[in-house]
Amino acid sequence: MNVLGIETSCDETAAAVVGSDGVVRSSLIYSQLTDHQAYGGVVPEIAARAHVEHLDGLVRGALDQADLALGDVDAIAATAGPGLIGGVLVGLVTGKALAMAAGKPLIAVNHLEGHALSARLSDHIEFPFLVLLVTGGHCQLVEAVSLGHYELLGTTIDDAVGEAFDKAARLMGFGYPGGPEIEKAARDGDPNRFPLPRPMAGRPGCDFSFSGLKTAVRRTVEQAEPMDDQSIKDLAASFQSAVGDALADRTLHAMEIFTDRHGGPHQLVIAGGVAANGALAERLGDLAEAQGFSLTVPPMELCPDNAAMIAWAGVERLQAGLTDDLDFLARARWPLDELPGPPASVVG
Ligand code: KG4
Ligand code: ZN
Repeated sequence: MNVLGIETSCDETAAAVVGSDGVVRSSLIYSQLTDHQAYGGVVPEIAARAHVEHLDGLVRGALDQADLALGDVDAIAATAGPGLIGGVLVGLVTGKALAMAAGKPLIAVNHLEGHALSARLSDHIEFPFLVLLVTGGHCQLVEAVSLGHYELLGTTIDDAVGEAFDKAARLMGFGYPGGPEIEKAARDGDPNRFPLPRPMAGRPGCDFSFSGLKTAVRRTVEQAEPMDDQSIKDLAASFQSAVGDALADRTLHAMEIFTDRHGGPHQLVIAGGVAANGALAERLGDLAEAQGFSLTVPPMELCPDNAAMIAWAGVERLQAGLTDDLDFLARARWPLDELPGPPASVVG
């Protein structure tokens, strides 16, 4: 069984074919980075237009690389939300048109479920597991109970963690996206040079907050100006270390809740673009080990937005008999705990 996946929820246009055997037959991504770079962030109208321009070619390329015709795939899976609504519409309408033309089922995939399930594609991990979902738009701790059944343990009350990296990077004079630049600069920096807050640390629950940390970075830059190269590296390292501590503090609480609810062995998955950060993965790996969890970080190509994770979510849903009608509406906001799942009798 093979599923064609389409992803257009933010600034990556992507198409992929993934088999029920877990083989990624093709995965193509057009990154719109240069389209948005001049604006310091993603411009929704530019993103939607770029999706329109590139998606057809990527779908054709993904099918060609997989050596399949459209009629050979078993279903079309397209991201139906959450995300920038113009872009989501481009991908979902394209998915619907392909499904209709080929007479194949449509699967409307929640983008966050795609991220959450990516470790089942790469590492075949079993439900239930704990997910730390860290992207430019989201920062959540999720208990993945079974397919379509997710409990939100915590979320950010202001900025997402990737957004915090991007905003802090801009204050440090780096380009967009800022995460990779901060990680690189932090390698040669002193994480103890600048005292920065660990937002929410020590508070009950699993919610995150990053806007105070961003403000502290701004204040530090203003006080230390002009900043030499080494100071910027030290600030990058201090910031990354504060983020690591904040994530670890919140994740520890989620681990305690998860451990109360489920017997072992436990799994922690880090998903989303920020999961590409090696220092953060190491910090969370240490925490996981201390708490008796094993840590899974999907390979680099599955961390940022991609269509292979959408196709894989499609494979899992198709296997569970979960397909969608062609009048399924695109959703800008679509929390993970509001997903259709299989009836209880199918879960197992
Ligand atoms: O998952 P993703 O590709 O797109 C969203 O759905 O948002 O995540 C993009 C975010 C950006 O904010 C980017 O700065 C961040 O992931 N990011 C990183 C790293 N690589 C990407 N943050 C920290 N360290 C990295 N190495
Ligand atoms: Zn994403």
